[in-house]
Amino acid sequence: MAPRKLAAGNWKMNGDLAALAEIDALAEAHPEPGCEVLICPPALLVHPMKGRVGAHAIAVGGQDCHARASGAHTGDISAAQLKDAGADYVILGHSERRADHGETDAMVAAKAAAAHAAGLVAVICVGETEAQRDAGETLAVIGAQLAGSIPAGATAANTVIAYEPVWAIGTGRTPTNDQIAEVHGFMRDQLGGRVGDSGNVRLLYGGSVKPGNAAEIFAIGDVDGALVGGASLKAADFSGIIAAL
Ligand code: G3H
Repeated sequence: MAPRKLAAGNWKMNGDLAALAEIDALAEAHPEPGCEVLICPPALLVHPMKGRVGAHAIAVGGQDCHARASGAHTGDISAAQLKDAGADYVILGHSERRADHGETDAMVAAKAAAAHAAGLVAVICVGETEAQRDAGETLAVIGAQLAGSIPAGATAANTVIAYEPVWAIGTGRTPTNDQIAEVHGFMRDQLGGRVGDSGNVRLLYGGSVKPGNAAEIFAIGDVDGALVGGASLKAADFSGIIAAL
């Protein structure tokens, strides 16, 4: 069984074939990582990254997939194609996709069901905007996103939840420890009865996680790891986060 703690890197629309050298540096720094390590590069890099990882304990994932298994969907990628290319995970419902592509909770749930059918672990993202937090709506927003985005059949083995406050992504700002603890405790409660083995579902925090704040964030109850954007691009930075888990 994989270690419970998960350090996940989301390269977003960054990186190229030359950037795969970061994988070598990461593998060298953590020959036997104490947590599960996952990198989700742009789709074009999934297959070459899987080859580059070789025997090292680094999983590869996609950043999105289509809800359908195949068909006339120009420009899209199916979950099975990601799996075929070497992915074991796929990020779904990231706030950038919700904002840029109008993805709804129902669409995220359909994609997650497709991911599960293809044998991928779905990393389902939720998070409030700054306006929603200021209005005191954070838990209501997270509750609704969880209720709408998690498909039937989700279990601790095939689903990871990432809490990413939209206002903390790429801004250098993070919630207080108490705010993270409140949302993660709430999410754990919400998963009960709806997700198989809910106590073991991994709950990640994402939003401006850096080597300098990772240990403090990982010490918060019900935080099982991180979904890291900018600081996952360079092995030197991501290494510090992996070491803190
Ligand atoms: O998926 C990752 C998140 O959007 C966090 O990005 O670490 O650059 O703030 P960030």
